[in-house]
Amino acid sequence: NYYAILMAGGVGSRFWPISTQEFPKQFHDMLGTGDTLIQKTFQRLSKLIPKENIFILTNERYNDLVFEQLPEVTKRQVVLEPAMRNTAPCILYAALKIQKENPDAVMIVAPSDHWIEDEQAFTDNVQQAFDYCSKNDALMTLGIKPTFPNTGYGYIEYNTTFETDIKQVKQFREKPDYQTAKKFLEQGNFLWNAGIFMWHVKHVVDAFKKNQEQLYKLFEKGIPVYNTEDEVHFINENYEKAENISVDYAIMEASKNVYVIPATFDWNDLGTWGSLYDKLEKDQNQNAIVNARTLLEDASGNMIRTQKNKVVVVDGLNNYIIVDKDEVLLIYPKAKEQDIKIVLNKVKNIF
Ligand code: GDD
Ligand code: MG
Repeated sequence: NYYAILMAGGVGSRFWPISTQEFPKQFHDMLGTGDTLIQKTFQRLSKLIPKENIFILTNERYNDLVFEQLPEVTKRQVVLEPAMRNTAPCILYAALKIQKENPDAVMIVAPSDHWIEDEQAFTDNVQQAFDYCSKNDALMTLGIKPTFPNTGYGYIEYNTTFETDIKQVKQFREKPDYQTAKKFLEQGNFLWNAGIFMWHVKHVVDAFKKNQEQLYKLFEKGIPVYNTEDEVHFINENYEKAENISVDYAIMEASKNVYVIPATFDWNDLGTWGSLYDKLEKDQNQNAIVNARTLLEDASGNMIRTQKNKVVVVDGLNNYIIVDKDEVLLIYPKAKEQDIKIVLNKVKNIF
């Protein structure tokens, strides 16, 4: 009865120029391991979940990339979205589809682009969550011990009264402002939401029914067509009408039956060049070098990556991102990595 939804529809714009709308980061070998991020995620999930029960949700423009990189999946497992609507619509859609196939399904929702070091610990945490969710009305999250007031994550406040592995959640707060995040960290009983969710399919569908009635009604109409030839027609007709909203705002903040397992593995959401830099091996001057032959003088803390193992000569530059791809060469301070998204929009407008 185990199922998975792999969300692979994001663009990863802060990883420009490697990640682009045509070829986003989940389809790249960002870590230089020989596997792309989506391949790594698929392998990780298939340790616990039968391969044929792993559904991939992505934008229709990534159809070819999905089948090239995951040759073991069939058409039945891939949902192609005609428009980007964030994570709530794709999760509800997939949940309804899975529920029709197996009303007793217990499932995990996972992003396709994260780094997880200890795969065994991950599998153990998910197994524990599955056991709990198959017997209890629970929306389960995995929590990461926060290290700084990151405003790009969701925060989970848990109840400290009981010394159990699975903690009851007092509140779920998506992307608080800096001051609030700081307060959360000082308070101590807060975790980052890893963006990985586990639940019995009926409980997530109930949560949508209760909190996102419009969305629920829109997709619930499709139940008779799921897994038939009419399904593609239904999606193309209705998906765009869905509200653009993330699962965190749509159901997690409002729900009372939220639980968290403090993760026992190291986690990184590979959101920026800096977070990738942290995970890569460094030379003696703390430069991370991928696909490049380098001659470095007075150069430290740089993230260097070229497309075709180019020769890169650097002198007098520290803590920079140096990345080349096709017609683009990016030389940008690591400290301003969050702004690459903005820069990309400027570039699109000018060139
Ligand atoms: N299929 C599909 N369709 N997938 C999507 C879409 C979409 O329209 N939009 C985003 N995704 C995928 C992304 O590719 C990514 O794998 C995942 O859904 C999460 O989306 P992000 O855009 O990366 O979310 P976030 O980083 O702002 O926030 C979420 O993740 C954080 C941890 O990384 C939240 O769940 C936070 O609470 C959490 O802390
Ligand atoms: Mg993210």
